[in-house]
Amino acid sequence: MTDIISALAECLGDQHVILGADITNRATSYWRPEPTQTLALLKPRSTDEVSQILALCHAHNQPVVVQGGLTGCVDGAISTDQEVIISLERMNKIESIDPIGGTATVEAGVILEVLHSTLADEGLMFPLDLGARGSCTIGGNISTNAGGINVLRYGMMRDLVLGLEAVLADGTVISSMNQMIKNNAGYDIKQLFIGSEGTLGVVTRAVVKIHPRPTSKNSAMVAVQDFDAVTGFLQYLRGALGGTLSAFEVMWGNYFYAVTEPGWHRSPMQRDHPFYIMIETEGSDPETDTSRFNDTLERAFETEIISDAVIPKSEAERKSLWDIRENFEAILEKQPYYLYDVSLPIKDMPEYVSRVHTALHEQFTDAACYVLGHVADGNLHLFLCPGEPGNWHESCDQVVYGPLESFNGSISAEHGIGTEKISWLGISRSEPEIALMRQLKTTMDPTKILGAERVIPRT
Ligand code: LAC
Ligand code: ZN
Repeated sequence: MTDIISALAECLGDQHVILGADITNRATSYWRPEPTQTLALLKPRSTDEVSQILALCHAHNQPVVVQGGLTGCVDGAISTDQEVIISLERMNKIESIDPIGGTATVEAGVILEVLHSTLADEGLMFPLDLGARGSCTIGGNISTNAGGINVLRYGMMRDLVLGLEAVLADGTVISSMNQMIKNNAGYDIKQLFIGSEGTLGVVTRAVVKIHPRPTSKNSAMVAVQDFDAVTGFLQYLRGALGGTLSAFEVMWGNYFYAVTEPGWHRSPMQRDHPFYIMIETEGSDPETDTSRFNDTLERAFETEIISDAVIPKSEAERKSLWDIRENFEAILEKQPYYLYDVSLPIKDMPEYVSRVHTALHEQFTDAACYVLGHVADGNLHLFLCPGEPGNWHESCDQVVYGPLESFNGSISAEHGIGTEKISWLGISRSEPEIALMRQLKTTMDPTKILGAERVIPRT
């Protein structure tokens, strides 16, 4: 056993230091079934233990990667066999809930869906929601500044965190557990740890904003004939629904068609519409909200903004409609596939998608590009399937990022940079911005042990 491993075992206890060779049944990530590679997997139980681990790793120059629910899309949490993993899975306590102040205080390893259900039992809610809710953790949501399906109403994770506790690379604990909406006492330090993907510190606890649970929820899946109708419908809903719209998720026709092929999801309507949209509202007056929702849809139908609509009649039906949007296993079977997460002005989306299609088909005759996304946030996800075996990642990157520059788009709307997009950061960030990122990194992690080779490109 090396010095660092024995020191870590002494600090955490042998049973909480799992050596890499003993890890066979833990997948690398949601996207990669092969076993996790690591020097050792550490399972601390407290901020203090995380601090001791980092102080030791700092002293031994030992690289570290932090893991939450392993559902991230940019390979940022994947460890090499030379890195130790800090997994916050044992730090999964909901410490307190304050309905008056509108806060929940949680440890970083709390699973998002567990927070949802615990709060629901008390008539409360935490608004961040995404397909990975059953596995992803609050710490991972914070470190990646997660987005998801309710951003148009409640914002991203950055907007939902009031305070947090993080440990710097040398073991220093920064406890910034603010509970107030207002606190302008100097720099807002917590924002440095939100969205920096574990490269500036390890988030161990947080205070998040919570709300009363809505007493009404209305959902529908609709079909529309072109992208003008998508944006027209969005504008119409924003006006007609008085701020209650909480989700507006668009699926391009070929995505919908692929995930409703026989053997996958059952299609609730004809499968050949150009666009499908999943919408949802939340409110506090079930009767009025439902009749307003239904009237709004009816008027959209009469004025021909939408051409078809399905309203679920039960929670099970609602879930199966959402499943069409959230569960894309049918696409993941089409190996090789490459998932992208771009943002750009909404009005430019049709032109952008058409340029991506053209560039893709110039290179791959049997290729397909499945598009869906959080369109109201200017965020698209694209699955590029070249349709032939091989590693086509770089060619596909070029196809997706090439046309993005002319629209001033971002190479990452919500997934982050991780290792996957590191060489493309320069498209979305200027040299002075990247230089400042480097300065911050050097100040907060001088020996560069945290999430090395992630987010910030080499000089
Ligand atoms: C989603 C993930 C891919 O929106 O961000 O489904
Ligand atoms: Zn998404």
